[in-house]
Amino acid sequence: MKRILILTVIMASALSINLSASAQKKQAAKAKKETAIQLNKPDFSNDATLMNALLERQTNRSFSSQELSWQQLSDILWAANGVNRPDNGKRTAPSARNAQEIDIYAFTASGVFFYDAENHQLKRISDKDSRQGVYDRGDFHKAPLILVYVGNFDKMQGFDEDARNFYSATDVGFVSQNVYLYCATQGLSTVICGSFNREGADKVLKIKNGKLLLAQPVGYPEK
Ligand SMILES: Cc1cc2nc3c(=O)[nH]c(=O)nc-3n(C[C@H](O)[C@H](O)[C@H](O)COP(=O)(O)O)c2cc1C
Repeated sequence: MKRILILTVIMASALSINLSASAQKKQAAKAKKETAIQLNKPDFSNDATLMNALLERQTNRSFSSQELSWQQLSDILWAANGVNRPDNGKRTAPSARNAQEIDIYAFTASGVFFYDAENHQLKRISDKDSRQGVYDRGDFHKAPLILVYVGNFDKMQGFDEDARNFYSATDVGFVSQNVYLYCATQGLSTVICGSFNREGADKVLKIKNGKLLLAQPVGYPEK
């Protein structure tokens, strides 16, 4: 239990949260070596109601560079498309024929990560800050977290091309709406974007059989 606790603290530092600058540097260097980073369990004590989340749900395009907490990051990913029924591996978002083809990549100041929903872990892809590769215009790259949604066609073997395109485009809507609703409960800004630099994002992701669908920055609004 103690080891898990220590590991969690080290991992939290991977995203530069709540540590002094020098401690952050030290821990970040250590965390760069970690390839799988365990996320926190979802916090179900959030007492926002669904009706209030719907009331507050909105696009907000203003982002400050204020960091998210490790718990918030963990909860955003779980809300987006985490496993909510461990007995059968099904997710918080529905998917056509349960293909579960929407992969989520997290672009942060500390690097780029794949969200491994099954293990609720981040898998490091890069230790570089590539947020500006996703948004080379405007201020969205300032958000501490940019989610890039990819339709993974390896998981859609039984679908023809039209169906792959149609269902991945519909399924990503559920995922991004889950993030909108979570943000509404936390006073966070978010915007789902069809316009982003797919080529820039793919320089890091190098998707072989799939499609970069949408991007969604998340962060605190600028005061
Ligand atoms: C599929 C899709 C793509 C979108 N792409 C962008 C985008 O590239 N840039 C942007 O600023 N907003 C984008 N939006 C956000 C919409 O502009 C926004 O949802 C709409 O103005 C309604 O505002 P609301 O979300 O606050 O209800 C997109 C929304 C959807 C559903």
